[in-house]
Amino acid sequence: MSVATTDFREIPAVWTRRHLLDLESLSAEELTCILDAAEDFRAATDNCRHKIQVLTGRTVANLFFENSTRTRNSFSLAARRLGADTIEFSSSGSSVSKGETVIDTAKTIEAMNIDAVVIRHRTPGTPLLLAKNLQCTVISGGDGPHEHPTQGLLDILTIRQRRGSLEGLTVALVGDIAHSRTARSNIWGLKKLGAHVIVCGPATLVSRHWEEFGVEVAYNLDEILPRCDVLNLLRIQFERQHTRPFPSVREYALLYAMNRERIERAKDDILIMAPGPINRGVEITPDVADGPHSVILEQVTNGLAIRMAVLWLTLGAGRS
Ligand code: CP
Repeated sequence: MSVATTDFREIPAVWTRRHLLDLESLSAEELTCILDAAEDFRAATDNCRHKIQVLTGRTVANLFFENSTRTRNSFSLAARRLGADTIEFSSSGSSVSKGETVIDTAKTIEAMNIDAVVIRHRTPGTPLLLAKNLQCTVISGGDGPHEHPTQGLLDILTIRQRRGSLEGLTVALVGDIAHSRTARSNIWGLKKLGAHVIVCGPATLVSRHWEEFGVEVAYNLDEILPRCDVLNLLRIQFERQHTRPFPSVREYALLYAMNRERIERAKDDILIMAPGPINRGVEITPDVADGPHSVILEQVTNGLAIRMAVLWLTLGAGRS
């Protein structure tokens, strides 16, 4: 375990942001600042098992207008690990069903003297809308297919821990790129930290337009597989699609699922990642999901550390 390099009293000078809305607008130095802070929190809290009271007296509200297991629970736990209080809001069972707007709902929660909101919403740009209308810190927990910044960060932290650096690594994002906020956040973050990024999947889900951002576009997983250091397997988001992007799930799995046969043709030390939720038998077979190359549960643990770091940095910057 690494040794903490900070006593968490001073926010690093490179970090001046009150909000975290995306990774597109962050510099490599800001990304590294969050990753380093997450490592420090892991080291100082025995892998996030113990509390460290750096946000005592602060309150964080989780405003989730879409379902979540990982993001919601880890933001909530991260806030409590830092000594903050939490409010849990779900759109189901709330006054949203009576016609209240997202801004009025958020302002109502903010009026309870909260310091930060974590917002997940199906509409891209909702975190930015709240940042413009609230006084408190706003952190995106995922906005439609736009971005999921803390997911991108926890994915990148997991790779950095295993490989030491992102520089020169080839990372393939496989699956539903078109509807994936995780893909977008990974692309921005990975590119800025020096990785070569491939997006791979059926042509109906992978646009050539990503080439304009320096990303390689591929349609044949078996062709790119031997070059990959990391595969991040993205779920097919049927709930965001109006038409079927391929004839059958079985056909998709045949062409793009990571299975034992493909593992045997990959690099010996390939990392298999998935943001979750995973669909066993669609993008990944159970033996690979639970096998020695899989770091899927490490990603979840790193999610807690990343969210502790993001809460500490944004709330700390908001204080000055
Ligand atoms: N990866 C992710 O965002 O998972 P949840 O939808 O469970 O939060």
